Amino acid sequence: MPERLTETLMDTWAPLVILWITVLPSMYMAPVNDSQVVPSGSNRRLLDISEEQKVLNRSKRGWVWNQMFVLEEFSGPEPILVGRLHTDLDPGSSKIKYILSGDGAGTIFVINDKTGDIHAMKRLDREEKAEYTLTAQAVDRDTNKPLEPPSEFIIKVQDINDNAPEFVEGPYHATVPEMSVVGTYVTKVTATDADDPVYGNSAKLVYSILEGQPYFSVEPHTAIIKTALSNMDREAKEEYFVVIQAKDMGGHMGGLSGTTTVTITLTDVNDNPPKFAQSLYHFSVLEDIAIGDPIGRVKANDLDIGENGKSFYDIIEGDGMDIFEITSDSQTQEGILRLRKPLDYETKKSYTLKIEATNVHIDQRFISVGPFKDTATIKIVVEDADEPPIFSSPDYLLEVHENAAIDSVIGQVTARDPDVTSSAIRFSIDRNTDLERQFNINTQDGRITLATPLDRETSTWHNITIVATEDRNPSQISRVPVAIKVLDVNDNAPELASGDQAYLCENGKLGTVIHTMRAIDKDDPKNGHHFVYNLPLELSNNSNFTIQKKKDNTLDIVTKRGGFSRQKQEVYLLPIIISDSGNPPMSSTSTLTIKILRTLAWE
Ligand SMILES: *[C@@H]1O[C@H](CO)[C@@H](O)[C@H](O)[C@H]1NC(C)=O
Ligand SMILES: *[C@@H]1O[C@H](CO)[C@@H](O)[C@H](O)[C@H]1NC(C)=O
Repeated sequence: MPERLTETLMDTWAPLVILWITVLPSMYMAPVNDSQVVPSGSNRRLLDISEEQKVLNRSKRGWVWNQMFVLEEFSGPEPILVGRLHTDLDPGSSKIKYILSGDGAGTIFVINDKTGDIHAMKRLDREEKAEYTLTAQAVDRDTNKPLEPPSEFIIKVQDINDNAPEFVEGPYHATVPEMSVVGTYVTKVTATDADDPVYGNSAKLVYSILEGQPYFSVEPHTAIIKTALSNMDREAKEEYFVVIQAKDMGGHMGGLSGTTTVTITLTDVNDNPPKFAQSLYHFSVLEDIAIGDPIGRVKANDLDIGENGKSFYDIIEGDGMDIFEITSDSQTQEGILRLRKPLDYETKKSYTLKIEATNVHIDQRFISVGPFKDTATIKIVVEDADEPPIFSSPDYLLEVHENAAIDSVIGQVTARDPDVTSSAIRFSIDRNTDLERQFNINTQDGRITLATPLDRETSTWHNITIVATEDRNPSQISRVPVAIKVLDVNDNAPELASGDQAYLCENGKLGTVIHTMRAIDKDDPKNGHHFVYNLPLELSNNSNFTIQKKKDNTLDIVTKRGGFSRQKQEVYLLPIIISDSGNPPMSSTSTLTIKILRTLAWE
């Protein structure tokens, strides 16, 4: 069925012919079997049909039978004739009527139903609508019967250069590293042209640079912007203003043009070394400054910015390399000199250091410019500070016998003022550490004396704090701990440890150990206690009891006979003299009570 239709159309199109008229010479052609077509427009050139025929004969391939062309933007005094419909069936008797339908039929395109002339009634804009599809028909004027099948054709709006190139993405901003070689790519700009890109040169653009030479160039066809000068230095000029023009008609005279601006910023590279603001810095510092405290700041300036302007600082020489250090302030890029070890004005009054600043990030390409570092000298003067007294020892341990006499000297502390203008020092006891005021101190020479008696058995340690104050400046104070140990003297007699009662059964035999007793002594002799036990002289030969000292310092009470009787005597009192081994020895008499217990009958 489609094949048959095609056949039918092929058979029948021939009689209905479209004539084509234009104002410009064109490669497009239309079939014309008529000799001439008269345009209705006045200022327009009539197409030389015979010429067209020649062209047609040369190249049949380019010929499209069902196209008409109309030039855009045409505005003459009268409607422009686009073309003419013609059928061979027209006997010329005005019996034929041409009908036009489709895009813009009756409004934009109007047909003369007698002659078949098609006129464009309006000014057309290709960039708005490039082609119109219409249908032509030939009918019998009386019967309205189609004389042949309808025929579709296209009216193409032909381009004229009525649009200038435009940079829709502009204005542009671009960056390129300073010191780039000639021809380094910077950026690419793009202009667009609304005109027909395939017909003529109306949209053929050529780029040129209007402003920005001799620093930059633009490639005429690609619009790539490149550097045109070597060694452009950011530190000398950072920003460039470039104007690029795009011109259509291949850049030729009469073309339309548009421009855009490109702001090009040179980015930094490390092409500048750091440089100290001064070659010699003087600082003075008090000797009592704390470790880590800043002493002064130095600055190595760098024309570069960001990472390229950063330096680290070092002490590379000098007589205080271990005493000082230099660090970098990441905010200000300064070097901060700090103390690492204590200063002492009395020992060393000045230092000289050689410092160095080195760029953190070095660009090997510019290494030939020179070393990316600089050195400077720092002179430090140490100033005397009023320092508090210094004790001869960080702490003291003193010993005193508990029976020492009031006012006897226990020991001595000493202190000195380290300052050059040495001040006299006064000593005192921090009374919070000696609430009972057991000690005194000589304010001049630091001798500590006893104020009240001591008892080791009450308190072995008296840990007090001595204060040294400078006479000249009483705010200069130092404190030192003094531990006073109370040494033992034999001032306590031994006595019975526990229980002074013993029990003996009536039938107890001779030699029975009826009790073992232990002595105690509050004193604390170095070699431990050695007790001596004795019965009073008058009892030493009594016939009832005796005592036996044992190696472990204890004492056994032993019967000397049997046959103790409760009836005869219920209780015996046995005084025992206990002596310690002190020098002189101390002794006491403790009386042991011995009770006789009844023996049960069955025993
Ligand atoms: C006193 O000082 C000595 C020595 O430092 C120490 O052994 C002792 O425990 C101290 N005593 C008191 C009560 O702080
Ligand atoms: C020993 O025992 C006897 C008999 O009970 C008594 O008379 C005498 O006084 C006792 N001796 C002493 C020293 O207690």
